[in-house]
Amino acid sequence: MNLKGVFISIEGIEGAGKTTHWLMLKNLFEKRRFNAVFVREPGGTHVSEAIRDILLNPQWNIHAESELFLYAASRAQRVREIIAPAVKDGLWVVSDRYHDATIAYQGYGRGLDMKFVKEVTQASTLGYVPQLTFILDVPAEKGMLRISNREPDRMEQSGLKFIKKVRRGYLRIAKEEQKRCVVIDAKQPKEKVFEKIITTIEERFGVNLGG
Ligand SMILES: Nc1ncnc2c1ncn2[C@@H]1O[C@H](COP(=O)(O)OP(=O)(O)OP(=O)(O)O)[C@@H](O)[C@H]1O
Ligand SMILES: [Mg+2]
Repeated sequence: MNLKGVFISIEGIEGAGKTTHWLMLKNLFEKRRFNAVFVREPGGTHVSEAIRDILLNPQWNIHAESELFLYAASRAQRVREIIAPAVKDGLWVVSDRYHDATIAYQGYGRGLDMKFVKEVTQASTLGYVPQLTFILDVPAEKGMLRISNREPDRMEQSGLKFIKKVRRGYLRIAKEEQKRCVVIDAKQPKEKVFEKIITTIEERFGVNLGG
């Protein structure tokens, strides 16, 4: 399969199922021998992994502005090292979180000035924006419950009220960019969510994933 540079992101709050479905997609692509690059925010390169360790360390108090710049720095590195070269090579790229996460978390969640957040975010992406974004939508309580058995990282310790703002933020983004964003009810069983992801990709890009 060689469709020029298709870029897809998967978004949503904690426990929405982003990594689960990103992995399911990765497995399916491997099974079908489709060439694609699977990346995760906020890691993926040596520099990004180092920044990730700072960002998620629960012991540190990071100011909202610093948080914004750290996410942007991590992404700037990933875009230049991995995403831009892959897209230029005509590869598919699937990212577990991308630029919308900054708009949702640091903009809507932390309440930083939205114009500023968007400018910083745009600078981080070099203009590489996904053609398709899945927003896995789940109530904050349900998402938090799903991840309650693991040690919370710094972002996950920000509280339910914060996560609720982030969820509303994602839904606002989806409303503003209806062509790019597809909201999926992620309360549904995983198989249903995945089916919707597959059919949307097939319809949107005219491919057969044989899922
Ligand atoms: N649709 C679903 N129904 C039930 N459980 C689900 C569903 N999707 C994911 N889960 C479960 O919820 C937990 C969290 O899922 P996952 O790690 O994929 O979320 P995430 O969105 O990547 O979270 P984070 O933002 O913290 O990385 C996992 O145990 C996963 O198996
Ligand atoms: Mg995850």
